[in-house]
Amino acid sequence: MASPERPQPVNLAEGWSPASWRDRPAAQLPAYPDPVALAQAMDELRALPPLVTSWEILALKQQLAEAQEGRRFLLQAGDCAENFGECTSAVISNRLKVLLQMSLVLVHGLRLPVLRVGRFAGQYAKPRSADTETRDGTTLPSYRGDIVNAPDFTAEARTPDPRRMIKAHARSAMTMNFVRALIDGGFADLHHPEYWNLEWVGHSPLAEDYRRMVSGIGDAVRFMETLSGSEVHNLNRVDFYTSHEALLLPYEEAQTRQVPRQWGWFNLSTHFPWIGMRTAALDGAHAEYFRGIRNPVAVKVGPSATPDALLRLIDLLNPGDEPGRLTFIHRMGAAQVAEKLPALLDAVRRDGRRVLWVCDPMHGNTENSSNGYKTRRFANIRSELEQSFDLHAAAGTRLGGVHLELTGEDVTECTGGARDLTDADLARAYRSTVDPRLNYEQGLEVAMLVVRKQAQLAAPRR
Ligand code: PEP
Ligand code: CO
Repeated sequence: MASPERPQPVNLAEGWSPASWRDRPAAQLPAYPDPVALAQAMDELRALPPLVTSWEILALKQQLAEAQEGRRFLLQAGDCAENFGECTSAVISNRLKVLLQMSLVLVHGLRLPVLRVGRFAGQYAKPRSADTETRDGTTLPSYRGDIVNAPDFTAEARTPDPRRMIKAHARSAMTMNFVRALIDGGFADLHHPEYWNLEWVGHSPLAEDYRRMVSGIGDAVRFMETLSGSEVHNLNRVDFYTSHEALLLPYEEAQTRQVPRQWGWFNLSTHFPWIGMRTAALDGAHAEYFRGIRNPVAVKVGPSATPDALLRLIDLLNPGDEPGRLTFIHRMGAAQVAEKLPALLDAVRRDGRRVLWVCDPMHGNTENSSNGYKTRRFANIRSELEQSFDLHAAAGTRLGGVHLELTGEDVTECTGGARDLTDADLARAYRSTVDPRLNYEQGLEVAMLVVRKQAQLAAPRR
């Protein structure tokens, strides 16, 4: 007889287990030299407490369902890759500040609740274009993120070490703990947006606009409190969810669990895992792993995706058309989005499939600067985002969110923006070991342009 603690499974994916991905071709996984050490690390991970809970995951799924219906806007943003060395108070709180400021701009301008999802507390694994790297005749495994190996070009640093998964879990827990404590302590209080000011906001060309918005919100909060005669309590905390690319399947498998009073399996390492563009093959290990978990999931969609492949991916990942379950994050690049996106939007809409569409205007716009930096031009980021809003409007679909790589640090990694950074500026503060991120100011600028674009689309046509 079924235990009263655990209701009967409703629709468990057939033939699936947390380890069934092992029977499929797995792209982008490291070759661990010592299988015994790998098994030990996984056992240890299985016994450690989870990082998130099933009820948070289900609450997020509900909010994603609302975003699908146009009743929320998703802001998903954070580092390209976290690294162990940057699990610091300043990096974590500055990133939170930018996300809070951007969401304030979006709430104010869109008049919609914003759903905040960080790329953090687990964003430690990176896909690479080659398995190995050769320097001066020496070939070593590629650096795949701190959860796998270390960037130094030595055999020791580059050998995949499963103990790093334990460290990644611990760093993720510390990050989550700090974020939760800040938020519970009132850091995200709308009565005090000045808590989130970053030092250099004072010098920004956007500072005036932003200050006006903050004081407008302060006035609105005080007005509501005067009307109601009491403090508006739900304004002093916001929800924050976590996401990462669930690339390293042994790590994800070890944190996939069943919980009391729920049917099925949850990935309890993050609320909202996604499949990267390079691992989204329909018959691949990553799609197999994702089909069996109950988390809301996202898939990156690049310029080579076909309408048919997308529909088959929906069949696999969301056969029951469950609200909030599936998000597609398109990342075509400014030059290709107008050519590639409409057929995909059309196919999904005509088939009546329920997905949340999100635009990642970063990953299709990476290029090399004249002086050898991996960079992205703000003009291209802006163009892809603006075109995406127009293409959705023309297709009768809805762009329900943005996915960005950014940092709260004062870096110079993407060119352009309000301060018009040039290739020469890249040398000043280029800190990313992987992809170029928007800095604080460029992030705010994206939020402002989303608001402007939406207002333009909502205005009656002349
Ligand atoms: C990423 O989000 O960092 C990434 C590698 O993206 P994509 O899979 O879209 O290339
Ligand atoms: Co990236």
